Amino acid sequence: MLLSGPNLDLLGRRQPHIYGRQTLAEHVERAAVVAASFGLTVEHLQSASEHELVKAVHDARGHAACLVVNAGALTHYSWSLADALASFDGVAVELHLSNPVAREPWRHVSVLAPVVAGTVAGFGGLGYELAVEAAAKLAGFARSGEA
Ligand code: DQA
Repeated sequence: MLLSGPNLDLLGRRQPHIYGRQTLAEHVERAAVVAASFGLTVEHLQSASEHELVKAVHDARGHAACLVVNAGALTHYSWSLADALASFDGVAVELHLSNPVAREPWRHVSVLAPVVAGTVAGFGGLGYELAVEAAAKLAGFARSGEA
């Protein structure tokens, strides 16, 4: 499952010098191609609502093997999303297009980082591929033909 937080629906038009010109749909497609190479499918939810994202994490329990989460600004203050992720029984990976620690000080803290397996940040759209690959491999999936 791929979760996208507030303002990510504007990707492609939103501060392209920071976030690039690709749309969220294009990033999701990129993630889906990598997931498919592991025999996995991607379910995607974008929401500006903390409530909907927390509920999606709850619904992922026992249903999704992996969660890849770009929570947008919620990354930096959503304790409820952190608590939800801490209760997830699969592999969760935090994802950012930009490198938040190289930006404004308020972006330097991620309240999600302590409860995820790892963070992929600063690689632009490539991060969607890297995060899915990391999550799938950590969850024990292999690409067909790979050990
Ligand atoms: C972001 C980084 C966050 O700090 C920011 O609030 C976003 C996007 C990223 O993908 O680089 O909305 O998560």
